[in-house]
Amino acid sequence: MKQPIRIAVLISGSGSNLQAIIEHQKQHAHEYEIALVLSNKADAYGLVRAQKAKLPTQIIEHKKFENRERFDQALQVAIDSQQIDLIVLAGFMRILTPAFTQHFLGKMVNIHPSLLPKYTGLNTHQRALEAGDTEHGLSIHFVTPELDSGPVILQAKVPVSPEDTEQTLKEKVHQQEHRAYPLVIEWFAQGKLALKENQAWFEQSILSKPQQLNVLNDRSI
Ligand code: GRF
Repeated sequence: MKQPIRIAVLISGSGSNLQAIIEHQKQHAHEYEIALVLSNKADAYGLVRAQKAKLPTQIIEHKKFENRERFDQALQVAIDSQQIDLIVLAGFMRILTPAFTQHFLGKMVNIHPSLLPKYTGLNTHQRALEAGDTEHGLSIHFVTPELDSGPVILQAKVPVSPEDTEQTLKEKVHQQEHRAYPLVIEWFAQGKLALKENQAWFEQSILSKPQQLNVLNDRSI
Protein backbone atom coordinates (compact mmCIF):
# COMPACT_ATOMS: atom_id res chain seq x y z
CA MET A 1 0.00 0.00 0.00
CA LYS A 2 1.14 3.55 -0.77
CA GLN A 3 2.75 5.35 2.16
CA PRO A 4 1.11 8.60 3.29
CA ILE A 5 2.98 11.61 1.91
CA ARG A 6 4.69 14.02 4.28
CA ILE A 7 3.65 17.65 4.15
CA ALA A 8 5.12 20.78 5.73
CA VAL A 9 2.78 23.69 6.43
CA LEU A 10 4.44 27.12 6.48
CA ILE A 11 2.68 29.88 8.39
CA SER A 12 3.19 33.40 9.69
CA GLY A 13 -0.03 34.13 11.53
CA SER A 14 -3.37 32.88 12.75
CA GLY A 15 -3.22 29.53 10.98
CA SER A 16 -6.93 29.02 10.41
CA ASN A 17 -6.06 27.20 7.18
CA LEU A 18 -3.62 25.05 9.14
CA GLN A 19 -6.48 24.22 11.52
CA ALA A 20 -8.69 23.14 8.63
CA ILE A 21 -5.86 20.94 7.34
CA ILE A 22 -5.32 19.44 10.81
CA GLU A 23 -9.02 18.50 11.03
CA HIS A 24 -9.06 17.07 7.52
CA GLN A 25 -5.86 15.09 8.04
CA LYS A 26 -7.43 13.14 10.91
CA GLN A 27 -9.77 11.51 8.38
CA HIS A 28 -7.03 11.12 5.77
CA ALA A 29 -4.10 9.79 7.77
CA HIS A 30 -3.64 7.05 5.19
CA GLU A 31 -3.00 9.72 2.53
CA TYR A 32 -0.86 12.34 4.24
CA GLU A 33 0.74 13.35 7.49
CA ILE A 34 1.68 16.81 8.72
CA ALA A 35 5.38 16.23 9.33
CA LEU A 36 6.30 19.84 10.09
CA VAL A 37 4.70 23.19 10.89
CA LEU A 38 7.19 25.94 10.29
CA SER A 39 6.76 29.62 11.16
CA ASN A 40 8.91 32.66 10.48
CA LYS A 41 7.28 34.36 13.50
CA ALA A 42 7.65 33.10 17.05
CA ASP A 43 4.26 34.54 18.09
CA ALA A 44 2.20 33.09 15.23
CA TYR A 45 -0.99 31.69 16.72
CA GLY A 46 -0.79 28.84 14.26
CA LEU A 47 2.06 27.44 16.35
CA VAL A 48 -0.32 27.09 19.29
CA ARG A 49 -2.77 25.24 17.08
CA ALA A 50 0.02 22.91 15.92
CA GLN A 51 1.21 22.25 19.47
CA LYS A 52 -2.35 21.46 20.59
CA ALA A 53 -2.49 18.92 17.78
CA LYS A 54 0.90 17.54 18.90
CA LEU A 55 2.56 18.33 15.59
CA PRO A 56 6.29 18.99 15.22
CA THR A 57 6.93 22.74 14.99
CA GLN A 58 9.91 24.82 14.10
CA ILE A 59 10.50 28.57 14.21
CA ILE A 60 12.95 30.16 11.80
CA GLU A 61 12.76 33.91 12.24
CA HIS A 62 13.55 35.79 9.06
CA LYS A 63 14.68 38.84 11.01
CA LYS A 64 17.64 36.89 12.37
CA PHE A 65 19.11 36.47 8.88
CA GLU A 66 21.14 39.02 7.01
CA ASN A 67 19.24 38.58 3.76
CA ARG A 68 16.48 36.67 1.98
CA GLU A 69 18.89 34.14 0.48
CA ARG A 70 20.26 33.09 3.87
CA PHE A 71 16.80 32.79 5.36
CA ASP A 72 15.56 30.68 2.47
CA GLN A 73 18.63 28.44 2.72
CA ALA A 74 17.82 27.78 6.38
CA LEU A 75 14.21 26.99 5.44
CA GLN A 76 15.38 24.63 2.74
CA VAL A 77 17.68 22.75 5.11
CA ALA A 78 14.89 22.39 7.68
CA ILE A 79 12.44 21.10 5.08
CA ASP A 80 14.88 18.80 3.32
CA SER A 81 15.87 17.20 6.61
CA GLN A 82 12.26 16.05 7.05
CA GLN A 83 11.82 14.31 3.67
CA ILE A 84 8.88 16.50 2.75
CA ASP A 85 6.80 15.64 -0.31
CA LEU A 86 4.65 18.78 -0.38
CA ILE A 87 5.10 22.29 1.03
CA VAL A 88 1.84 24.03 1.83
CA LEU A 89 2.13 27.80 2.17
CA ALA A 90 -0.74 28.83 4.42
CA GLY A 91 -0.48 32.53 5.14
CA PHE A 92 3.31 32.46 4.97
CA MET A 93 4.09 36.13 4.51
CA ARG A 94 7.51 35.98 2.91
CA ILE A 95 8.54 36.43 -0.69
CA LEU A 96 10.61 33.39 -1.61
CA THR A 97 13.82 33.49 -3.62
CA PRO A 98 13.95 31.91 -7.11
CA ALA A 99 16.52 29.40 -5.82
CA PHE A 100 14.09 28.21 -3.16
CA THR A 101 11.08 28.00 -5.47
CA GLN A 102 13.17 26.20 -8.06
CA HIS A 103 14.39 23.67 -5.51
CA PHE A 104 10.80 22.76 -4.60
CA LEU A 105 9.23 23.25 -8.02
CA GLY A 106 6.13 21.09 -8.40
CA LYS A 107 6.18 20.33 -4.68
CA MET A 108 4.93 23.61 -3.27
CA VAL A 109 1.46 25.17 -3.29
CA ASN A 110 0.11 28.50 -2.06
CA ILE A 111 -3.33 29.84 -1.27
CA HIS A 112 -4.07 33.37 -2.35
CA PRO A 113 -7.21 35.32 -1.44
CA SER A 114 -8.28 36.47 -4.91
CA LEU A 115 -9.37 35.06 -8.23
CA LEU A 116 -5.95 35.11 -9.85
CA PRO A 117 -4.69 36.64 -12.08
CA LYS A 118 -6.65 39.43 -10.40
CA TYR A 119 -5.05 41.09 -7.37
CA THR A 120 -1.69 39.53 -6.74
CA GLY A 121 -0.01 40.84 -3.58
CA LEU A 122 -1.76 42.30 -0.54
CA ASN A 123 -5.13 43.87 0.40
CA THR A 124 -7.02 41.79 -2.09
CA HIS A 125 -10.43 42.09 -0.41
CA GLN A 126 -10.27 45.87 -0.25
CA ARG A 127 -9.15 46.05 -3.86
CA ALA A 128 -12.02 43.83 -5.02
CA LEU A 129 -14.48 46.06 -3.14
CA GLU A 130 -13.00 49.26 -4.54
CA ALA A 131 -13.18 47.86 -8.06
CA GLY A 132 -16.90 47.12 -7.58
CA ASP A 133 -16.40 43.41 -8.34
CA THR A 134 -19.51 41.27 -8.00
CA GLU A 135 -17.46 38.17 -7.28
CA HIS A 136 -14.27 37.49 -5.41
CA GLY A 137 -12.63 34.36 -4.08
CA LEU A 138 -9.48 32.37 -3.69
CA SER A 139 -6.94 30.55 -5.79
CA ILE A 140 -4.62 27.68 -4.95
CA HIS A 141 -1.63 27.49 -7.24
CA PHE A 142 1.70 25.82 -7.71
CA VAL A 143 4.48 28.13 -6.59
CA THR A 144 6.87 29.32 -9.28
CA PRO A 145 9.46 32.08 -9.00
CA GLU A 146 7.03 34.88 -9.93
CA LEU A 147 4.91 36.09 -7.00
CA ASP A 148 1.33 34.69 -7.00
CA SER A 149 1.69 33.74 -10.66
CA GLY A 150 2.14 29.96 -10.77
CA PRO A 151 -0.41 27.75 -12.54
CA VAL A 152 -3.74 27.77 -10.71
CA ILE A 153 -5.13 24.42 -9.59
CA LEU A 154 -8.39 25.36 -7.93
CA GLN A 155 -10.49 28.44 -7.41
CA ALA A 156 -13.55 29.08 -5.29
CA LYS A 157 -15.76 32.07 -5.92
CA VAL A 158 -17.82 34.02 -3.44
CA PRO A 159 -20.46 36.61 -4.35
CA VAL A 160 -19.80 40.19 -3.25
CA SER A 161 -22.89 41.91 -1.90
CA PRO A 162 -23.36 45.69 -1.60
CA GLU A 163 -23.27 45.37 2.21
CA ASP A 164 -19.90 43.64 2.27
CA THR A 165 -17.02 45.24 4.12
CA GLU A 166 -13.41 44.17 3.90
CA GLN A 167 -13.97 42.07 7.03
CA THR A 168 -17.15 40.28 5.88
CA LEU A 169 -15.62 39.55 2.49
CA LYS A 170 -12.49 38.20 4.11
CA GLU A 171 -14.60 35.88 6.29
CA LYS A 172 -16.53 34.60 3.27
CA VAL A 173 -13.28 33.83 1.46
CA HIS A 174 -11.78 32.20 4.53
CA GLN A 175 -14.74 29.82 4.83
CA GLN A 176 -14.09 28.62 1.30
CA GLU A 177 -10.34 28.44 1.88
CA HIS A 178 -10.94 25.97 4.67
CA ARG A 179 -12.81 23.69 2.28
CA ALA A 180 -10.51 24.18 -0.67
CA TYR A 181 -7.02 23.73 0.72
CA PRO A 182 -7.50 20.28 2.27
CA LEU A 183 -9.04 19.10 -0.99
CA VAL A 184 -5.99 20.14 -3.02
CA ILE A 185 -3.67 18.44 -0.53
CA GLU A 186 -5.76 15.29 -0.83
CA TRP A 187 -5.48 15.41 -4.63
CA PHE A 188 -1.73 15.81 -4.42
CA ALA A 189 -1.46 12.94 -1.96
CA GLN A 190 -3.51 10.77 -4.31
CA GLY A 191 -1.08 11.51 -7.14
CA LYS A 192 -3.69 13.42 -9.14
CA LEU A 193 -1.76 16.69 -9.42
CA ALA A 194 1.45 17.60 -11.17
CA LEU A 195 3.31 20.60 -12.51
CA LYS A 196 4.89 20.05 -15.92
CA GLU A 197 6.41 22.72 -18.15
CA ASN A 198 4.76 25.45 -16.13
CA GLN A 199 1.29 23.96 -16.45
CA ALA A 200 -0.86 22.32 -13.82
CA TRP A 201 -2.03 18.80 -14.58
CA PHE A 202 -4.98 17.02 -13.01
CA GLU A 203 -5.44 13.30 -13.55
CA GLN A 204 -3.10 13.17 -16.58
CA SER A 205 -4.67 16.18 -18.36
CA ILE A 206 -3.54 19.78 -18.58
CA LEU A 207 -5.81 22.03 -16.57
CA SER A 208 -6.70 24.61 -19.19
CA LYS A 209 -8.93 26.28 -16.59
CA PRO A 210 -8.64 25.99 -12.80
CA GLN A 211 -10.94 23.53 -11.11
CA GLN A 212 -13.91 25.22 -9.42
CA LEU A 213 -14.69 24.18 -5.88
CA ASN A 214 -18.49 24.20 -6.16
CA VAL A 215 -18.67 22.36 -9.44
CA LEU A 216 -16.43 19.68 -8.01
CA ASN A 217 -18.54 19.39 -4.91
CA ASP A 218 -21.63 18.89 -7.03
CA ARG A 219 -19.88 15.90 -8.50
CA SER A 220 -19.08 14.95 -4.90
CA ILE A 221 -15.35 14.54 -5.36
C1 GRF B 1 -5.39 33.47 3.95
O1 GRF B 1 -6.37 34.40 3.63
C2 GRF B 1 -4.61 33.08 2.73
O2 GRF B 1 -5.34 33.17 1.55
C3 GRF B 1 -3.49 34.10 2.71
O3 GRF B 1 -3.19 34.31 4.07
C4 GRF B 1 -4.33 34.07 4.87
C5 GRF B 1 -3.93 33.12 5.96
O4 GRF B 1 -4.92 32.97 6.94
N1 GRF B 1 -2.39 33.61 1.93
P1 GRF B 1 -4.74 31.95 8.13
O5 GRF B 1 -3.42 32.30 8.84
O6 GRF B 1 -4.71 30.57 7.56
O7 GRF B 1 -5.92 32.18 9.03
